[in-house]
Amino acid sequence: MSIEQLAETAVAMVAPGKGIIAIDESSGTIAKRFAGVGIENTEENRRAYRELLLTTPGLNEYISGAILFDETIRQKTKDGVPFARYMSDNGMISGINVDKGTHALAGFPGEVVTEGLDGLRARLEEYYKLGARFAKWRAVINIGEDIPSGTCIEANAHALARYAALCQEQGLVPMVEPEVLMDGNHDIDTCFEVSEVTLRALFDALYNHNVALEGTILKASMVLPGKDSDDTASIEDVAESTLICLKSAVPAILPGIVFLSGGQSDEDATAHLDAMNRMGPNPWPLSFSYGRAMQQAALKLWSQDLVGNYDAAQATVYERAKANGLAALGQWTRG
Ligand code: 13P
Repeated sequence: MSIEQLAETAVAMVAPGKGIIAIDESSGTIAKRFAGVGIENTEENRRAYRELLLTTPGLNEYISGAILFDETIRQKTKDGVPFARYMSDNGMISGINVDKGTHALAGFPGEVVTEGLDGLRARLEEYYKLGARFAKWRAVINIGEDIPSGTCIEANAHALARYAALCQEQGLVPMVEPEVLMDGNHDIDTCFEVSEVTLRALFDALYNHNVALEGTILKASMVLPGKDSDDTASIEDVAESTLICLKSAVPAILPGIVFLSGGQSDEDATAHLDAMNRMGPNPWPLSFSYGRAMQQAALKLWSQDLVGNYDAAQATVYERAKANGLAALGQWTRG
């Protein structure tokens, strides 16, 4: 796989006015989401729910691709079409979540490191055959008293770089995700500092591991005050802090940056993205790779009546995709 082909995929992922829908919740996370709305966590319910999302009419107008989970990339629509094929037939790129989740970082209470490097080369080879063209790995950085430690940031950056190099070797675009969590009562300046040092460590590690940035996408968290903080940052404050942080730490050669929603409300996630694009031009396309901020309205509707609300649930997915697609251009209007 040439760098040119990887770069082509990366550029298509952040095509103007398009972004990614993240539907790669692990079995544990989807169990929590389903439990929240009273849906039984069976394989068929997970399949049917992911089918609802992916077959939303008109989704490809605003969605360039989707991140799937291991189980999902092996599943089919009710008509027997593998999801990955359904997506490529409809002009959307399949991505796959390839990490094995976070585990306590030994010796560093309260901190985690993402595992999943063992056997990754063979798994990537299989995912490519199943149709995946990009792969996501999520590292998690917690903010708290005396954390994150330098060791935690380095360990996660190193794992991200090793996974990214393996992805490129196997023909998949790495979507590197160092998520700085919103949990806590820290202010926006603390989030800025932690995000900046994390991104600098990540791009150092990618450089040291010969990862071609032209064929890499960054999935970033926004610079926000903690969920339990009294800090009342405005939409513009968040947009401005996030942009300054990214500009100081992310090389301009990167084809694009997509954001996670991380527990923000649907509207805030859209408003922040829109504000950042209105403040442009920026060095890279800025778009979205939202999970919750794309799905939560649909899940609620679908859960009330697995059949009757199907069209209404898909309509909310389309609305969220459209709003975020417009925000990726800085053209969204509230309401
Ligand atoms: P949220 O947008 O719900 O944060 O999920 C995105 C994601 O894929 C996190 O890894």
